[in-house]
Amino acid sequence: MDIVDKIVEMSDPDTRAHQERVAILAASITRHLGLVDRVTTVQVIGRLHDIGKTKVPPEILNKPDKLEPHEFAIVQGHPLMGYEILGGFEIPEFVRQCVLQHHERVDGTGYPYRLQPEQIFVESRIVAVADFVDALNSDRPYRPAMGIDDTLKEAVRVRGSHLDITVVEACLRVFSSGVATNQQWL
Ligand SMILES: [Fe+2]
Repeated sequence: MDIVDKIVEMSDPDTRAHQERVAILAASITRHLGLVDRVTTVQVIGRLHDIGKTKVPPEILNKPDKLEPHEFAIVQGHPLMGYEILGGFEIPEFVRQCVLQHHERVDGTGYPYRLQPEQIFVESRIVAVADFVDALNSDRPYRPAMGIDDTLKEAVRVRGSHLDITVVEACLRVFSSGVATNQQWL
């Protein structure tokens, strides 16, 4: 078992499954972008991106109702928690930075640092798109899954604001190529 497998084991089963699906979809997007040399790193970032949620109390993580502001703040701390947790292992600084960035947005409204687009690594943008697609297309305690067609429409709607335009287009090509339908990109 390598170090990434060992770290992934720390997450709860739902988060672990989400991370594995995100890793696979993100890898496909990376290939469709022609960034073949970055596929392995993107997979690792995908598998680890929500590791910080291990520090969010389960009653908040699985709460079926709207989160209170202080609970929301705890959830929003998970990228930084992930960065810190990974500092305890032999994980490259670049991977840690991308985990830290996975909720940044290309219009500069993301968290934790409201980074400007030129500050957000392409690997983080790719994982952000795969994360968005898998999150909307999965059942959550507070809502049912949206379905892949509506999920992709939503990704298109927020490209250029929440999500990177080029990466969303590559994601659409992943699905239109027939490789991935619904959650069958696994
Ligand atoms: Fe996250």
